Amino acid sequence: METSKVLIADDEHSIAAGLSAVLEEEGYTVEVAADGQKALECLLGGSFGVVLADLKMPKLDGLALLLEMQKREITSECIIITGQATVDSAVQAMRQGAYDYIEKPLTAEKLNRLKALIPKALEKFHVRRANRALASELQALTHYGELTGQSESMRSVYQVIDAVAPSTASVLILGESGTGKELVARAMHQKSERSRGPFLALNCAALPKDILENELFGHEKGAFTGSTNEKPGAFEMADGGTLFLDEVAEMASDIQVKLLRALESRSVRRLGGRKEIAVDIRVVAATNRDLQKALAESELREDLYYRLAVVEIYLPPLRERMGDVRLLATEFLARFSQQNGKRFTGFDDAAMEWVLSYHWPGNVRELKNAVERAVIMSRSGSIGLADIVPRHMRNAPDTPVAMTLPVGSTLADARRQLVLKTFSMTGGDVDRTARVLGTTPAEVRTELAELLRTVGEGNETETPPAAAARNVKGKASVKDKDAARRRSKRSGGSGGAGRR
Ligand SMILES: Nc1ncnc2c1ncn2[C@@H]1O[C@H](COP(=O)(O)OP(=O)(O)OP(=O)(O)O)[C@@H](O)[C@H]1O
Ligand SMILES: [Mg+2]
Repeated sequence: METSKVLIADDEHSIAAGLSAVLEEEGYTVEVAADGQKALECLLGGSFGVVLADLKMPKLDGLALLLEMQKREITSECIIITGQATVDSAVQAMRQGAYDYIEKPLTAEKLNRLKALIPKALEKFHVRRANRALASELQALTHYGELTGQSESMRSVYQVIDAVAPSTASVLILGESGTGKELVARAMHQKSERSRGPFLALNCAALPKDILENELFGHEKGAFTGSTNEKPGAFEMADGGTLFLDEVAEMASDIQVKLLRALESRSVRRLGGRKEIAVDIRVVAATNRDLQKALAESELREDLYYRLAVVEIYLPPLRERMGDVRLLATEFLARFSQQNGKRFTGFDDAAMEWVLSYHWPGNVRELKNAVERAVIMSRSGSIGLADIVPRHMRNAPDTPVAMTLPVGSTLADARRQLVLKTFSMTGGDVDRTARVLGTTPAEVRTELAELLRTVGEGNETETPPAAAARNVKGKASVKDKDAARRRSKRSGGSGGAGRR
């Protein structure tokens, strides 16, 4: 087995040769390095389970070798070989993580001890290595590039990024504001061969039409009044890298045509220019708009959409991946505590409960800002409810809202109104409504459907539930549309399936 390899680092040739013969007889593959520096090179190059290191060696002594190994995260176990005069240093080496030490001279008895030590050291090496592999596997599942998230949906986003990164296929990232679309674009760049090239981001909504066109395609000298210099556009500047077009649905339609042309021909022509300039580029675009609507209203050209969305990635809103909230909140807390030079033990129970039950309409951005603000505001050693809940919400939606029932109402009326009030308090979140009421989402839906039915049948009496039900109707239909969009997206290839 490769990891049963033992490295002997000793400048005394006779000792190295003797040890080598003994260990080879035991079945180990042995290599010898004549000084600490050479030993380090061997350790970096091959996977040795154990290194036997003389404490006194030229260039790098045993202790220094041990330190270098730790610095470079080399997991081989180290057994120190020491002369009597240096036993103290050997003990120090053990404190620094050496597995054990053997004193010279290497008598038969000492050699037997060494023979018994090596398999144990190897076992420790294997366990450590397995743990490490597991840890990095877990890390891979909770983080990807700068993205944090361990929910099923985020893991499938990571998979799609992984699969798409090596290609030049255009990618369209969809998702509400603050869900991390730009981070996904950056991760895609970092994971690709293009990471050596530039990553250029351009916000199509932030720039007036003419400026955007100029930014994208550049201009030749004298292309328009006042253009005294030539200027390459983003396409040229991102050559060999990635161009990220944020809020792409906001782009004026004639620029959309030019963009389509550039994507198809993989070349651009500067404003006022004649020659076609070839570009090697990957375009990643993003939008938080309802795409079906933008397409239906012809705000986004369908042909451009198909060009951009060769692969489509949908980033679900944070409220649909609540499993990520605790992880994100804890990480933001660590990040901002460090940035602000503060120390916190964590979130108080009530604060974390609120964090986990709030529906985060501004998604990860809102959570991040809330934690940063809490870190700045908090005067105690932990984040309390008052630190994390935004001021405008402290007495609002999530604190109990009173409910008045006219005498004469039935129990069914009371129940219905309670469901409705809670539904509106949670911002139209069925799951949270069910949690607050201690019932199931299915029951909440039934109750709401029942309400809508009564209203639909033309119940003229303006009972509070009926009045509120009209709002629900609006809200529910918006949600349903969202759900339908997501469904159609899933079947249409949000999981990274090719669009063409
Ligand atoms: N999964 C995540 N892990 C860590 N940080 C995140 C994650 N998602 C978003 N963020 C952070 O939240 C903020 C918003 O992210 P980003 O700018 O990528 O969102 P967006 O979807 O592009 O939003 P918009 O549509 O408003 O442009 C950034 O500060 C980003 O670092
Ligand atoms: Mg963005």
